[in-house]
Amino acid sequence: MKNPYLPYPVRIIDVITETEDKNLKTFKLEFINPSDEDEFKYHPGQFAELSVAGKGEIPIGIASSPTEKGFLMFTINKVGLVTSHLHNMKPGEIMGVRGPLGNWYPWERMEGKNIVIVGGGFAFTTLRSSIVYMLHPDNRKKFGDITVVYGARSPGMLLYREELAEWERRDDIKMHITVDATKDPDWKYNVGFVPAITKEKAPGAENALALVCGPPIMIRFTQPVLSELGFTPEQIIMSLEMRMKCGIGICGRCNIGKELVCKDGPVFTLEQLNRMPKEY
Ligand SMILES: Cc1cc2nc3c(=O)[nH]c(=O)nc-3n(C[C@H](O)[C@H](O)[C@H](O)COP(=O)(O)OP(=O)(O)OC[C@H]3O[C@@H](n4cnc5c(N)ncnc54)[C@H](O)[C@@H]3O)c2cc1C
Ligand code: FES
Repeated sequence: MKNPYLPYPVRIIDVITETEDKNLKTFKLEFINPSDEDEFKYHPGQFAELSVAGKGEIPIGIASSPTEKGFLMFTINKVGLVTSHLHNMKPGEIMGVRGPLGNWYPWERMEGKNIVIVGGGFAFTTLRSSIVYMLHPDNRKKFGDITVVYGARSPGMLLYREELAEWERRDDIKMHITVDATKDPDWKYNVGFVPAITKEKAPGAENALALVCGPPIMIRFTQPVLSELGFTPEQIIMSLEMRMKCGIGICGRCNIGKELVCKDGPVFTLEQLNRMPKEY
């Protein structure tokens, strides 16, 4: 059995600066040993521990989809020690990836349902993975209508802008992109906070599930909107970010009551979260 603390060695193949403040970068990584890619089987919604030699290890959501072969993708906000070191790394350099870790969005339960995706800020990463996965020709027919509300502070803070434009042009996904504010006279999408745009644009809750991922304030104001639209707590699925260490349910660093976010989560329904202590 493979040692669960041992990372796979990977090479950085591309680094893309995503946002105008330059604090968000997407890293594309390839496995140094091709057989490791077959072992690293993941589902949209999972995360991995990224390690930088001598600096440390951090949990980051997987932004690529398992339908994308030959690379893994992570979008990383520069906030502290390890993320700053990562931001200084260049294509060709070697680092480690341990995982995949945690649970994932409930893909079997989502089949046959309309899917409403509500995302804000850089938490859009695992939602990107989910969208790419659902839009893949092998998977699109498994889902009903797909509606996405995705917001950022300003146009320059949106992630994956080329892909957003590409999804906009498709007729099998309804995109509602929004920004808190903009002075750009050519801005052709929405202006307003994510909960307000969700209220305006999201379809009803019948035969639907909502995946919500974003900053705590967005989540707090989106919940009542979804409830008003008829979504029950079982129909609202969220992903949590807690401080972690082992990522495999051993160290006890990430517990909320009896649940371990690294193992029982990071994906929970609102119904599950309502039964847990409010420590997240
Ligand atoms: C399941 C999961 C998925 C995540 N996905 C992403 C992602 O896709 N992209 C991304 O940029 N970040 C993501 N994070 C957050 C990321 O793990 C932290 O930003 C990172 O650990 C900070 O490391 P650092 O050494 O640079 O910061 P530190 O020097 O340790 O701390 C700097 C700041 O970051 C905060 N911080 C540290 N660790 C965490 C943590 N685990 N969660 C939240 N805040 C933290 C600290 O409170 C402090 O404000 C995710 C976290 C989890 C648990
Ligand atoms: S991070 Fe160790 S138990 Fe969750």
